[in-house]
Formats: sequence, C-alpha cells, structure tokens
Amino acid sequence: MPHFEPTRYNVCMRKNPTRDELLEILKTHLLSPDFSRATFAGATRGSATAWVRIVVRPVELRGQRYVQLAYHSAKKVVTKNFLAGEIDEPLVELLRIGFAAIHISTRMEEIDIRTSRKGRVHIGRHRMAEPRASDEQSHNRVKDVPLPEGEADHLLEVMGIATAEGRIRPSMRAKFTQINEFLKQLRHVLPDTHLDRLGRPVEILDCGCGASYLTLAAHYYLNEKLGIPARVLGVDINDDVIRKSLERAEQIAAGGVNFACGRIGTTETPTDIVLALHACDTATDDAIAHAVRTGAKLLLCVPCCHHHLNRALSRDAGGGMLRPLLRHGILLQRTADLVTEAFRALALRIMGYRTEVVEFVATEHTPRNLMIRAVRTAEPPGNREAICEYYNFKRFWNVTPYIESALGEAFQGLVRREDSEEFPTAKLP
Ligand SMILES: C[S@@+](CC[C@H](N)C(=O)[O-])C[C@H]1O[C@@H](n2cnc3c(N)ncnc32)[C@H](O)[C@@H]1O
Repeated sequence: MPHFEPTRYNVCMRKNPTRDELLEILKTHLLSPDFSRATFAGATRGSATAWVRIVVRPVELRGQRYVQLAYHSAKKVVTKNFLAGEIDEPLVELLRIGFAAIHISTRMEEIDIRTSRKGRVHIGRHRMAEPRASDEQSHNRVKDVPLPEGEADHLLEVMGIATAEGRIRPSMRAKFTQINEFLKQLRHVLPDTHLDRLGRPVEILDCGCGASYLTLAAHYYLNEKLGIPARVLGVDINDDVIRKSLERAEQIAAGGVNFACGRIGTTETPTDIVLALHACDTATDDAIAHAVRTGAKLLLCVPCCHHHLNRALSRDAGGGMLRPLLRHGILLQRTADLVTEAFRALALRIMGYRTEVVEFVATEHTPRNLMIRAVRTAEPPGNREAICEYYNFKRFWNVTPYIESALGEAFQGLVRREDSEEFPTAKLP
C-alpha cells in the first residue's frame, strides 16, 4: 500500500484548506498503515445526500488491503471496498457532500476536521501520549479470528452482533465467539476436503439456521475472506426466523444466500457442506442424515439439547453396573449426551466418514460446545469394525438411538447384518 509522508500532510496544516488539500490530508491518513477508523457525520454543507454517516476503515480481503466505506442511511448500510489506487473518486465525492464533522483515528493521533456554518474549516490534532498497538500487532492478535471485531462491521451490525460503531454488543459476545470458532473449524478442515478448489461454488446447507448468524458469516467468510466462491442455504422450521434472515440477507445484499422454511431433510438441493449449530435435539440427527443422504463431503455440527436418549436410557444399563452414575438426574443427562454423540460419530464412521469429536469453543461461551467434524472418505459404507463397535455399544446401553431411524434403511441394513455370526460380540458383565 502506498504510504504518504507526513510532510505532505503538514503542508495543509492551516485553517481553511482547499478541497484538494483536504483530499491530500484524508489520503495521507486513510492509506497510512497506522490508520484505524474515520467517521464522516453531522450536518452536510455540500450536495444533498441520503447518507447520514459514513464510516471508513482498513480491511484485509483475500490477502489485500482495502479501504472500506460504509454508507449509513436511515434505513440501510451499503459497504464498498476500494484499493489504494481507487480511493480518490469516493473521497472527492465525500468531500462534495461536505459533512461538518470528520474524525480520523490513527495509531498516533486523533484528527478532527470541522466545517462551520460559514464554511470555515478547522483542523485539530491530538497526539497520543503513547502510540496505540500497531495495526501489525493488533493484526497478529486477530489474524487468527475469521471475523475480527472492527471488520465486516456492516455484516455484524445487520446481524445485531455489533453496534453501529463497530463494537460487539456485550450480550452478543458469546454468539460472536461461537461463530468465529465455528468458522475456524471450517477453515481448518477445508483443505482436506478439496472443496476449496472445486472450480464451481461450494454448496452449503445450514440446518436449523435460526436468525442466520452462522449462515451469513459462513457466506461472507468463504467468499470475501478466503476467496472461495460459496452459496449458502439456511433451513429452519420456524418461519419467523426465516423472515428475519431474508431481511438480513437483503440488507447485506449478499448474492448466493437463500433461506427455506421447513424441516431439515426436506430440501433436495445438492450439498457439499452441511453445518448445524445447536440444532435442537434430534434435528442434529436429521442434519447428519441429510449430509449422508446427499453425499456431502463435509459435516460440521454442534449438537444442542438431547432429549431422546435422556428419556430412553435405563438406570439399569450396563447390567446395573452403572447405577451409581445413572441414579442422579444430572449425571444421567450428561451420560445420555455423551452416549448420543458417540452413537452419532460411530454411525458416521459406518457411513464412510472420517469423524472426530472436538471441543470447538470454551464452555464459558456455551456449555453445548462439542462439535462433530466428519469428512467423507473414499471408503464405502459398512466398515466392519465400526459396525461391530456399534452393535456392542447398543447392546451395552440397551437403546436404539434416533440416528438409526434418521439414517433409515441404508444404515439399518448395515447394522442389522450384525445378527449374523459374522462379528464377534463383546461380553457383557
Ligand atoms: C437453538 S436454535 C440455533 C439457531 C442457529 N443455528 C444459531 O446457532 O444461532 C435452533 C434452531 O433449530 C430450528 N429447528 C429445530 N428443529 C428443526 C428441524 N427439525 N428442522 C428445521 N429447523 C429446526 C429451530 O427453529 C431453531 O431456530
């Protein structure tokens, strides 16, 4: 990025600079590596405009640094990104609007440019006693965060996660962290799937999308940050959240984002990646079954509440040996959670997926913090060892997990083969 020497700026440090001089001042700061944010607001002294405020910040997209202008009107926000060589025209346009107050923050100083009613321009500068953390330092701090605070402001604001000033709302901090950690898992596993070089847009299904936090964040992250063309469909059974999600997608003007109201598994679109964040109870099983049925290459799901096995698990499971554990409601419930995930992970292995269960975020951000990460392999369904484990596990707990019904005959046919003598059966106590 070109760097304008401060001396050029100093030339303009007097009252009533011309418009060209103001342009130089703006460029000096906005293109500097030290630039962090600028706001154009207040009364307008130039041409008429629908924008009430324009916020400028540096953003990095696909490895390149851009200057992002977020144009706020009373109803919507439009963001545009410009490379250094493209910034003159939008800045000239901004000066033509003539906002009375321009505030620029850099690592070293705060600059206020005020235009009075009579058209007099006054520039005030306040130097920091100590420089703020450099862009590089803060970049290092946040470089691992897919959607860091202060980037994708408009998206985060529309989702209700950030304020208009780009600050994360305290009440949304947990959701913000969950989304970022979820996207990190996606980034981590993408190269294994080769979905990052398909030669066509990746098709993503977000199951139980709710108010579309993950749906919109995943779409933005893949398309804008990773440069991987992706289309996302969010599905939810609740038409209120689908309506809200459609409004949000429209506000963001994101192409390739769609929503459908209905049960998971009822949409017949081709799917490469299935996501599910806290899809309730057996909706996670339906998401898994949908991934398997459509041959999705990748599944990332973070299960939520589990009621099915919690109700079905007998306190006498394991021949009564586990009574000390299962006697207590809370321990029974946690055991049911873990047993449910073990069944799901095993079922996915049987269906030809390499499967891991990982903790995707610290418990302080959600107690429901286990993620099932599954990548489809070339191995056909029916791994004998996994089937044998499944059979014995099922006998031990004496339950039929819901995943078995969700996966249907294609799965049931495989695990039923266990009734033959073909597989060794573990001895129960
Ligand atoms: C706890 S919310 C999570 C929403 C979103 N994924 C998030 O993390 O913000 C669970 C969502 O799953 C939806 N849901 C539950 N069962 C469903 C099903 N069988 N099919 C589609 N959506 C379902 C609910 O309507 C709800 O919006």
